[in-house]
Amino acid sequence: MKILLLGYMGSGKSVVAKQLSKVLQYPFIDLDTAISKDQNISLKQLFETKGEIYFREKEALVLHRLLKGSDTVVLALGGGTPCYGDLMQKLTQQEGVVTIYLDAKIETLTDRLFSQMHTRPLISHISDKEILTDFVRKHLFERNFYYHQAHHKISVDQKSVKEIAQEIVALLF
Ligand code: S3P
Repeated sequence: MKILLLGYMGSGKSVVAKQLSKVLQYPFIDLDTAISKDQNISLKQLFETKGEIYFREKEALVLHRLLKGSDTVVLALGGGTPCYGDLMQKLTQQEGVVTIYLDAKIETLTDRLFSQMHTRPLISHISDKEILTDFVRKHLFERNFYYHQAHHKISVDQKSVKEIAQEIVALLF
């Protein structure tokens, strides 16, 4: 089984995927890290030098390659991965792939993202928490259409990483 975690920046995709991979003894892959390795450059630099469209093309290519290459994996997608082209539709129809949306409240996301804004290309220009909240609210509204196509949805607010991973295990096995 290929378990794909999706959700907004700061929803905990990578940490939960890592924990889940440990519990299930599946390999763990973080898509952002895989893109960064493939391009031999940090994501921030990639966005700055080549722009978002180039990043989205590489994101789709690297994801395609990873899905072809593994039978069992826990894969943390990037926040925007399912929201471009027909990727989400393809993922939900692909045999052996299970998509799980980590659903977090705007407040949870902004609290987590506020301290990490400088490392995240899409929000690095924001300096104020109110502006961040507004940005996240609008962005999430646009992306919800894609996120809600996932096979499963898990609320992550006020839950520990271990609890969320256990919930996923109970859901799938
Ligand atoms: C993005 C989220 C990031 C990364 C890139 C774009 C997005 O991943 O892929 O900065 O469009 O939401 P995380 O959600 O892992 O931070």
